[in-house]
Amino acid sequence: MEPYKVRVVEPLCWTTREEREAALRKAHFNLYALDSDKVLIDLLTDSGTCAVSHNQMADMMRGDESYAGSASFRRMERAVQNLFGYEHVLPAHQGRAAERLLIQTLAPAGSLLPSNTIFDTTRANCLDYGVKPVDFPCAEFWDFESDNPFKGNMDCAALDALLSGPDAERVPFVLLTITNNICADLPVSMNNLREVSALAHRYGKPLYIDACRFAQNAWYIQHFEEGYAHCSIQEIVGKIFTLADGCIVSAKKDAMGQIGGFLAVRSTEVARAARQRMLLSEGFLTYGGMTGRDMEAIATGLWEGIGEAHLSCRMETTAYLHEQLRERGLPVIAPSGGHAVYLLAHRILPHLGPDEFPGQALAVELYREGGVRSARIAMNPQCGPLKGTCLEMLRLALPNRVYTYRHLDYVVECMARVTRRAETIAGLRLIRQPELLGGFMAEYEPAPATEPASVAHA
Ligand code: F0G
Repeated sequence: MEPYKVRVVEPLCWTTREEREAALRKAHFNLYALDSDKVLIDLLTDSGTCAVSHNQMADMMRGDESYAGSASFRRMERAVQNLFGYEHVLPAHQGRAAERLLIQTLAPAGSLLPSNTIFDTTRANCLDYGVKPVDFPCAEFWDFESDNPFKGNMDCAALDALLSGPDAERVPFVLLTITNNICADLPVSMNNLREVSALAHRYGKPLYIDACRFAQNAWYIQHFEEGYAHCSIQEIVGKIFTLADGCIVSAKKDAMGQIGGFLAVRSTEVARAARQRMLLSEGFLTYGGMTGRDMEAIATGLWEGIGEAHLSCRMETTAYLHEQLRERGLPVIAPSGGHAVYLLAHRILPHLGPDEFPGQALAVELYREGGVRSARIAMNPQCGPLKGTCLEMLRLALPNRVYTYRHLDYVVECMARVTRRAETIAGLRLIRQPELLGGFMAEYEPAPATEPASVAHA
């Protein structure tokens, strides 16, 4: 059962089908543009959407809002130092600000940044700064049915080839994303972490970790990797980060913050250079764009996020949703992710061509059916065997401690109803989107019906 009881509640917002239809049109079929009071079950993201605990609430009350030397920062700094083992902690208003600080500090324009798979915000920050992201997801990821959990791993042979090749000097550091959000939120094994760390360091490159879902990654290692069953989550987290030189963290996920993030590094020189940049955009060194309240919530949330009872409940809840969908024959990517379940949208809507956005069309239809908000996730078309074609996924992300099993049963029922009439679902046509992070602001319209014969999927 859930390892908590609920004492603060928020009513759900019911809508009629007509209201949802009007909301969709107003939002140009982009679910990020919906007002939240038009959403019944919000599985858009786990980011900043967690339920606050009574301890977090109590600590937030004594947030120290001093401009400089905030006691709340010191609490957060201590928690990060104890858990991750890095001396220098630079607070940032959220993950992407920490990414930007790291990239601007270490990666000059023209660099190549290799990763298992770079998340969208990091990719956009790279591109904005003239840095080229290079994704090396492992080959196992593409076997969507296999239950091998460590499909978030990096392809070490590809990394080795880059670091020993003619472009090696353009690589400022290696980045591992744990868990690997774009690859169905699957984890990176300790073996892979060790191998990537050894490779990077052999070629004189630092290793950084994008670690916003670090606790879930540690849970997978504890449960599925040989030799870790008897280690605590905290011990595994400690082992992970000794392999790297620093991390960038959105504190809105496993750290249970509603806002916030940080960059933590071992090197005093890197910290000094990043602090210079931080003053320009994030604020003073002891708040970095956060309030004292936010930093208190994170200081406490980091420990709650690695709680064994909490993590078991989180992983079991996501696995339940995964299992229910799989039992109904829906094409979920196996195994279950930590914070979310990913569906292969192009398999549910095979009559839609890649340029008709099956992931978005499915998300729109799920909302239309039952007011459930989800997100399209698309893999960089340059990577993997689908070269040139996006892998279109629908992500159902579970906010921490917010929804119950009965809410999830409702989501499964809605999804089942949508798939029963899949062949009637029309695609979408993109009207416009900005160049970077286009998905957040894209505008679509219903596409004219496609002739089935003209659709070719990779
Ligand atoms: N890295 C990963 C792996 C992420 O999933 C995110 C955010 C970030 C970095 C950026 O953090 O939002 O605090 O700036 N992921 C959210 C999501 C947006 O819905 O998965 P941020």
